[in-house]
Amino acid sequence: MEQQITREDALTRKGYKHACHIMLYGDSSAKLFGKIPIKHIVLITVIQMQMRFDGLLGFPGGLVNPSNETLEAGLSRELHEEVGVAVPVGVDNHVSTCLSSSCPGLITHFYIKKMAESELKELETAAVAKATDHGLEVLGMVRVPLYFLRNGGGLPYFLSHSFISNSRAQLLSALQRCRLLSQGEIEKAVSQAEQMRR
Ligand code: GTP
Ligand code: MN
Ligand code: MN
Ligand code: MN
Ligand code: MN
Repeated sequence: MEQQITREDALTRKGYKHACHIMLYGDSSAKLFGKIPIKHIVLITVIQMQMRFDGLLGFPGGLVNPSNETLEAGLSRELHEEVGVAVPVGVDNHVSTCLSSSCPGLITHFYIKKMAESELKELETAAVAKATDHGLEVLGMVRVPLYFLRNGGGLPYFLSHSFISNSRAQLLSALQRCRLLSQGEIEKAVSQAEQMRR
């Protein structure tokens, strides 16, 4: 477990680097696998993560220097670079701050923002068409499969991939915080993913 500290405490510490990442998500109308007739369009929750240059999954965002910019302005700048839209981020979007255990000297700040369907759509297009880091730092945005198929398909297989730093734990806590899945569903996904990694 990573050690949690407050955002305020983090900003008083000297000699640390700061990284800010965010879960952008929202409802989107879709036809699930085309199997559901058009008149039965369902709302699915879209969560944006990314395939990083290093082959790991993670959230959009990056290093912020608090002596040049606020954490939130820096995160917005990173979003402009990585997804092509400078999504505004406020202190009200902040959810947790940790002393990174995998990377000593790094403090990681996590944010969550719910977006409208049209904004999510714009973002998915811009991530390919406009983002300066597309194909460089970021190989592509990916949606998180928030469902269960037979034999561990869906979320369990997604969780069995490799994630940067504690981004997997950030995803799991966000699913719970935003009530996107029940506690039982989250535990089921984690335990099925665990069996695949053996
Ligand atoms: P450069 O512009 O190349 O420096 O990259 P960046 O500013 O976009 O930084 P990056 O997104 O790689 O994040 C910096 C550091 O934060 C990484 O080396 C990881 O240790 C950590 N990190 C990256 N993504 C995540 C994430 O989704 N969650 C958490 N908790 N940490 C992350
Ligand atoms: Mn970046
Ligand atoms: Mn980044
Ligand atoms: Mn950067
Ligand atoms: Mn960069």
